[in-house]
Amino acid sequence: MTIELAPDSPIGAATGRRDGRDKVTGAARYAAEFQPEGLLHAVLVTSTVPAGVISAVDTAQAEAMPGVRLVLTHRNAARLYPAPLYPFGAAFQSLLPLQDDKVRFSGQAIGVVVADTPEQAADAATRVRVGYHTAPFISDVGDPRAVSYGAEDCGEIAEAVPNHRRGDAEAALAEAPVTLDATYTSPRLYHCAMELHSTTAAWDADGTLTVWEPTQWVAGAQSVFAAWFGLQPEQVHVIAPYIGGGFGSKGGPQPHAALAIMAARELGRPVKLVLTRPQHFGGISPRPATRNRVRLGADPTGKVTALIYDSLNEVSIDDLYVEPSGGIAAQTYDVPHVTVDYRFVPVNAVTPSSMRAPGEAIGSFALESAMDELAAALDLDPIELRLRNYAERDPISGKPWSGKNLRRAYELGAEAFGWQRRDPRPGSMRDGTELIGWGMAGGSFPTYIHPSAAGARVCGDGTVEVVSGGTDIGTGTYTLLAQVAADVFGIPADSVRVRLGDSSYPEAAVSGGSMLAGSLTPVVHRAASAARDELLHLAAALMGRDVSELRSGGGRVYAADRPEEGLSFAEILARSDRTAVAAERDSFDGISEEERSKFYGTLGLLRLPAAGPYAVYSWSSVFAEVAVDEDLGTIRLRRLVGAFDCGRVLNPVTARSQLLGAMVMAGGAALLEAGVVDAGLGRLANPNLAEYMLPVNADIPDIEVLFIGEPDPHANPLGARGIGEMGMTGTIAAIANAVYHATGRRVRDLPILMEKML
Ligand code: MOS
Repeated sequence: MTIELAPDSPIGAATGRRDGRDKVTGAARYAAEFQPEGLLHAVLVTSTVPAGVISAVDTAQAEAMPGVRLVLTHRNAARLYPAPLYPFGAAFQSLLPLQDDKVRFSGQAIGVVVADTPEQAADAATRVRVGYHTAPFISDVGDPRAVSYGAEDCGEIAEAVPNHRRGDAEAALAEAPVTLDATYTSPRLYHCAMELHSTTAAWDADGTLTVWEPTQWVAGAQSVFAAWFGLQPEQVHVIAPYIGGGFGSKGGPQPHAALAIMAARELGRPVKLVLTRPQHFGGISPRPATRNRVRLGADPTGKVTALIYDSLNEVSIDDLYVEPSGGIAAQTYDVPHVTVDYRFVPVNAVTPSSMRAPGEAIGSFALESAMDELAAALDLDPIELRLRNYAERDPISGKPWSGKNLRRAYELGAEAFGWQRRDPRPGSMRDGTELIGWGMAGGSFPTYIHPSAAGARVCGDGTVEVVSGGTDIGTGTYTLLAQVAADVFGIPADSVRVRLGDSSYPEAAVSGGSMLAGSLTPVVHRAASAARDELLHLAAALMGRDVSELRSGGGRVYAADRPEEGLSFAEILARSDRTAVAAERDSFDGISEEERSKFYGTLGLLRLPAAGPYAVYSWSSVFAEVAVDEDLGTIRLRRLVGAFDCGRVLNPVTARSQLLGAMVMAGGAALLEAGVVDAGLGRLANPNLAEYMLPVNADIPDIEVLFIGEPDPHANPLGARGIGEMGMTGTIAAIANAVYHATGRRVRDLPILMEKML
């Protein structure tokens, strides 16, 4: 059912982030800022070798240090129980810390020191002596000794591998008059959220557990903590009111969290563990390094007839993680013969996991670079080549698109960028000693929906409150939900209170996969409408009116035919002898309690983009300008223009901010960022923000974000599709294609560094 919105609805209004002031003044409290009574501080000890067993541990010196309360290693740690891994659960790594003497990767947690102050704990942690029997290791995906495996070796979890086959791509490729065979690679990439990962745990006397955890999904974290410690989910309370960036890394708890909780139980006091920045590079799941071989077959007009996408990503020794880069290759173009095949290379490194647009970010780099190469080979304009392969329906499911205005996105972006002034010849445009390149690429991202719940309440003082276990990871959830309730009650958005990020609130989708806003806003609309309707009924009784004659607006209920006749929300409640009117609603329609509990803390109830009668995807067209110094090879990003078709824009301020941020992140992936593996030592050579090159202000040019903005009635009741990850897709390729256009040099290995221009 589509929700009709009035032209002056607060939904769709350019409302600034309501949490902005609290964040910049320090009033917003992040997970690591909670100080429960009697708090102690923990610091991790991590392995310095990539493989082997711990042969000796000497904790005596650390234990004798001032203020030290506890040193845990595998010799005295409590037992933990496994928690199901993504996507079957919310855990990112199977690794249960300190459960054995095995070292799987450099940076693995092998001990934890708890002391009265963080400084005492950090000092003592350096005094824990560890000896190893080292073992042979492979730390780099490109290691010639590495042995890959595929879905056929995955046993019962083979269903997690999204191989795709339609037609006969090998045969079609063999017959194609024009072919391309190119391999595109990407390094290990790190989320680098400003807020560090941390866990603060406190046990109550009755055995219940409270955890302040920066998490994108309190329900997921709750399920993992409960599993690890053999508790029922109701015995675990997870609190995360603000998250200082997640980008996927905070989608599910990572092993260090177990150690804070374990130490708190051992000591009978609250314990806080904050990771150092280098510990993030060692122990927090990154985006894996990938190799993506793309083979295209086309006819001379540019119609692509065959596409073979061989995806390979590194995984850990213990766990499978699929970087689903081939999805976008299977779904984007109207190609009759397609094969997508995934393979995995185990390395001695932390289990990788989701980072913003997992799959599509890198997959769109490979696919859209290959399309640019094909366009160049055929002497076709890159947009024209894409139009000749435009998919009018979803080529995977055969279903119609819920809405696809990608042609308009190409036009809008091209117009804003000035694409028609481009000289197609590589190296033909310059500005002084700099070669100018203009490149473009398309992007897309599936719109997922996960059942969610929310409550709405009109309080005795007449104020309105919305509550949900969804989180705001900096994306604007607080603001959007206030806008929705404001629409329903006819009140200003800034008068709505919103409470989020607490596992005792109604369960909601993960703030990930670009799905939270689309999953949660219709549910808040339902809950608020139910609360408003009850308020109208109370008012009708008091006013001697029929409820159909009444309206809600401006903090009061009034007669539609006589607006001066009305009662304030507070008066209605007081005169009805009510302290509040509240309603809770969810979108678990048709899902039984039992089924729902079976999928607790998993993505098992996820509605896939083609689950219904339509295939639901967001679309984009991104244009980039780079300048490459002819003598030095330095590459400057000068302009980015992105035209986005994401359905109705619920809030242009927060939506633009999401897309702009993702385009910045894609700029980093294109030109700067790489986890550099020291294959000799088996660890990262640049585990810090000084040497892992992130874009800074000077690296970021003018970025223009344009919206098509046409509501999509099939996406969700408010007409909105996913946004959060869209800015990552297409942007890396647009930049790479611009570098090619500037120089004639095709760089297929990210990042595109100046030395690759020589
Ligand atoms: Mo995102 S990688 O789904 O947080």
